[in-house]
Amino acid sequence: MTSFWSIWVIVLTITCLALIFGLLLWNLKNYTGVKEGESCGHEFDGIEELNNPLPKWWTIMFFATFVWSVFYLAAYPGLGNWEGLFKWTSSNQGVTSLTESKEAVIAAQENGERVQLDAEYRAAEDRFGPIFKEFASKDIETLVTDAKALEIGQRLFSQNCAQCHGSDARGGTGFPNLADNDWLYGGTPDKIKETILNGRVAAMPGWKDALGEQGIKEMTAYVLSLSGRKVNQKDADAGQAKFAMCAACHGMDGKGSVAHNLPFGAPNLTDNIWLYGGSQRAVEDTLAHGRQGVMPAWKDILGEDKVHLLTAYVYSLSHNSAAQ
Ligand code: HEC
Ligand code: HEC
Repeated sequence: MTSFWSIWVIVLTITCLALIFGLLLWNLKNYTGVKEGESCGHEFDGIEELNNPLPKWWTIMFFATFVWSVFYLAAYPGLGNWEGLFKWTSSNQGVTSLTESKEAVIAAQENGERVQLDAEYRAAEDRFGPIFKEFASKDIETLVTDAKALEIGQRLFSQNCAQCHGSDARGGTGFPNLADNDWLYGGTPDKIKETILNGRVAAMPGWKDALGEQGIKEMTAYVLSLSGRKVNQKDADAGQAKFAMCAACHGMDGKGSVAHNLPFGAPNLTDNIWLYGGSQRAVEDTLAHGRQGVMPAWKDILGEDKVHLLTAYVYSLSHNSAAQ
């Protein structure tokens, strides 16, 4: 707020309060010349107006709310640019990244500010931290038989992951199904945990320039034939002849990075499970323009202990566990 508007708000608010207070004081005195409890001299349909004072309870309440409002305006922010004696804020406002957020928390502590959000995080950490710590000390194979651990894992999933992977973790176009035991980066507990902690960025290049329109058509035919689809055999053969350019990531057999122990996250093209759709159109699109799926990193957001529980939950979805 500019100082003009700040002063404007302060002057208006204080003037209003002063007027209201004056009105109250004025009403506590008897200026009418009529004695208390006696008739003011008018009557409406047989009802007479008496000169009664303001009720005591009402007056006391009025004073109390007035005192409260003065205290509140002094203690908390709200009156123009006034920060308030407690230096209270709801959150570290204007923060746009995790690093900034961490810096803002430290700065707030050093300035003696009371930031409600930080305080709530700390309270939750104190209360639930030990619970997560205890689960974090157990290995994933043990946790998948622990209904309580999976229940917590599922809640964490709903809060942090469901917006992309779906509440049932079955994904959607561009977001992998985590329940089908078909993996881009590997489905062992270690691999899943690595994915969640550090995130993943896929890099499937676009081939429009290298292959040309006809080349894309042929390669699409070959890719579709890998999962048993009926295609134009001549096109597919022409595609196969050029598949070496795809093998570095998908493997010569097209079975994907995991099957060949590669770190690229290239999907298995032979299983008829499609991340970006298995229609001719969708595959052509993938080949022409490439795909760059991004899985965010959660280490700094959730911490390792919560990621451990999430790993157990995700692992349980495609393996025998207490959840099934
Ligand atoms: C902003 C969307 C988004 C959110 C939120 C998200 N993910 Fe992902 N996740 C993705 C995408 C996209 C991929 C696939 C990356 C790729 O294309 O290579 C992925 C991949 C994964 C994989 C690897 C799957 C495989 O086949 O190897 C796992 C495991 C995973 N996510 C778990 C999680 C968990 C657990 C959470 C919550 C803490 C989460 N994701 C939150 C978008 C998201
Ligand atoms: C540099 C490694 C790399 C090369 C080379 C590569 N790909 Fe990919 N490919 C990927 C990755 C990684 C993905 C997953 C993209 C994502 O998750 O966003 C992918 C995805 C795909 C998909 C989408 C599959 C689905 O389930 O929707 C198809 C189809 C595909 N690649 C075909 C090919 C073909 C054909 C070639 C050769 C012309 C090729 N790729 C070359 C890494 C590669």
